[in-house]
Amino acid sequence: MRKITISVPGKLILMGEHAVVYGKPCIVVAVSQRMQVAVEKIDETVFRLNAIDLDFENYQKPLTEIGIGEIPKEAKFAEIALLNFTSKYKIQSGVEITTRSDFSAQIGFGSSAAVAVGVIKSAAELFGLPLSQKEIFNLAYKTVLDVQGKGSGFDVAAAIYGGTLYFQTGGSIIEPLQTNGLNLVIGYSGVKADTVTMMNQVLGKMKNFKSGIDEIFNNIEKLVSEAKIAILDKDWQRVGTLMNYNQNYLEDLGVSTDKLNIMIEAAIKAGAYGAKLSGAGGGDCMIALVAPNKKLQVSYAIAEAGGQIININVNAPGVKVENL
Ligand code: MEV
Repeated sequence: MRKITISVPGKLILMGEHAVVYGKPCIVVAVSQRMQVAVEKIDETVFRLNAIDLDFENYQKPLTEIGIGEIPKEAKFAEIALLNFTSKYKIQSGVEITTRSDFSAQIGFGSSAAVAVGVIKSAAELFGLPLSQKEIFNLAYKTVLDVQGKGSGFDVAAAIYGGTLYFQTGGSIIEPLQTNGLNLVIGYSGVKADTVTMMNQVLGKMKNFKSGIDEIFNNIEKLVSEAKIAILDKDWQRVGTLMNYNQNYLEDLGVSTDKLNIMIEAAIKAGAYGAKLSGAGGGDCMIALVAPNKKLQVSYAIAEAGGQIININVNAPGVKVENL
């Protein structure tokens, strides 16, 4: 086979962001908007990339120069993922990679992790290497660390395993959770946040006031552990309350914004069980946990508050081959 197409889900973090970078657990859910990654063997000894949604096409480099020199931001995750894959498995073949996405790279659905997972999984299939989920995780997580220097890997796990996961830093725990009945409304704040900037902001606070930030992370850990039990019990009222507490700690960390706060407040006033920002903060999306009969009114309230509603289904399947 000369060409493989796979698809990878986006993700939303339910609870535990930031703390999960420092050894704590989080809960993450894969969503139905997906990224397609196609990898094709080509005769030229080059790596070629077309990132259709980024208007970034025909980027090309000799195989011997992959990972060397200044890499445009649109190519970073794909190029470093390919480098990690080809170096580990001693593959030397020209390839053309094309990515397309149902979701914009602007909204914080995890497009970087999805590209890393997509390139590694599709290349593994193309070159006949039956890699386990954990092997793909390790290589894709290494890619994330190589490119951005830090991160927990929760987005990589969601892209690979799908569903809902209880996840701990670096994949030391990756535990699927049954979450039938999880109803979310998603509101995009209209502002693109930069994950690394937000992580650095929290790191700066940590340097100034380590014991205070440690305490916040310890409390977030307790909320996440309780939320795991409440989710398994389908006690959505309790999960919503825990999400609200989690949001308070995120505000203490300084990563929420006025716009997110207004959207969150509107969702709660309209009858959501709970609401919080989702991800690094500084913009991107908020999520509201709702009963099915409140979905419409919560969506209206978030839109009224200036948010853009993004329709997704939760518990999407993990990475899968599309063209076999
Ligand atoms: C970003 O979506 C979530 C963070 O916890 C970063 C990470 O876990 O890699 C801030």
